[in-house]
Amino acid sequence: MTRHDRTERAAILNMTEVLQESAVMKYLITGGAGFIGSHLTEFFLKRGDEVSIVDDLSTGSWENVAHLADNRNFHAYVADAADKVLLETEIRNSDFVYHLASSVGVKLIVSRPVDSIRRIVRPTETVVDLCAKYRKPILLTSTSETYGKSESIPFREDMDVTLGPSSKNRWAYAIAKLLDEFYLLAQREQTGLPVYIVRLFNVVGPRQTGYYGMVLPRFVTAALNNEPIQVYGSGEQSRCFSSVYDIVEGLARFPQTPNAAGEVVNLGSDREVTINDLARRVIELCDSKSIVKTVSYDEAYGPNFDDMQRRLPCLDKARRLIGWDPKRSLDQIIMETRDWIRDTGRQ
Ligand SMILES: NC(=O)c1ccc[n+]([C@@H]2O[C@H](COP(=O)([O-])OP(=O)(O)OC[C@H]3O[C@@H](n4cnc5c(N)ncnc54)[C@H](O)[C@@H]3O)[C@@H](O)[C@H]2O)c1
Repeated sequence: MTRHDRTERAAILNMTEVLQESAVMKYLITGGAGFIGSHLTEFFLKRGDEVSIVDDLSTGSWENVAHLADNRNFHAYVADAADKVLLETEIRNSDFVYHLASSVGVKLIVSRPVDSIRRIVRPTETVVDLCAKYRKPILLTSTSETYGKSESIPFREDMDVTLGPSSKNRWAYAIAKLLDEFYLLAQREQTGLPVYIVRLFNVVGPRQTGYYGMVLPRFVTAALNNEPIQVYGSGEQSRCFSSVYDIVEGLARFPQTPNAAGEVVNLGSDREVTINDLARRVIELCDSKSIVKTVSYDEAYGPNFDDMQRRLPCLDKARRLIGWDPKRSLDQIIMETRDWIRDTGRQ
């Protein structure tokens, strides 16, 4: 092969890579009218891809995606993600499936345990079985809750976890999501299905509702109304908050990263903040007169509630596999959330 041939061949190979990377993809996103799902949908549509969403609007909202309705690449179905007939057609016609549909958050699980457990486990079985039938790669959004009460910081994806007893129903969220993880990995083991499991850590930003107890929208809404900000427990427990925009950018990298198939990967921020400090930052950035009021866990969640002091992800695997790091600062995240709540009046 001459030097000229080699150069030409390299140019063709490069072009093929560019074409492959930029080829229009067809995504199915369950839970696509939810907080994270609606941003992911928007991200792919902006890139020119085609997106179908299936959402029963149990915790999501049509308002999150109404502005996309005129886009001819957008298809929305208000339905249960356990609906086999609909899902069969949609999965057969898609290139990659993001499975986000799920009950979310401990407060919802504690207040509506039967419905919440069903909403996590049933759609997963349907979606994963159909992905296996049609050989479609699937990404599941799991949660940092699966690390339970582990005190070995930071949390690495392969570490042992310590969960509480089944008599405390807050653990149902972690255990149901772990069961989802096991189910995906079992299908991979038995059928070779490409599966991706992403454990998310406290994702926040515009469109997250505070109705189900999520801390940042609750704090910002109270601050904008100059009402007391309710901090549960001592407030000295810490969390790491990541921007939904950073997370979506990370989630979108998996279809182009086949070597991440079969892996469990943390995505989140590794900058810790105590809940008291978060409340203080929110008050300052909202220019608010709110005071911080401490509320016991018993009052907030009922008796016998377990909480974790720290929850910090190890991001080495995300860096290595998908070359991802969170970019936005906590202040930026709070301001984006503040502006959205103030401008839309939603909460
Ligand atoms: N937000 C976070 O900090 C966080 C942290 C860890 C994990 N996650 C995971 O990310 C995913 C998205 O969460 P989110 O924060 O966007 O919450 P969300 O409640 O806004 O999104 C979940 C969506 O799923 C829909 N849904 C629930 N059950 C359904 C069903 N049976 N059929 C169809 N649709 C159904 C809801 O209506 C909602 O739109 C979930 O899988 C959740 O477990 C989120």
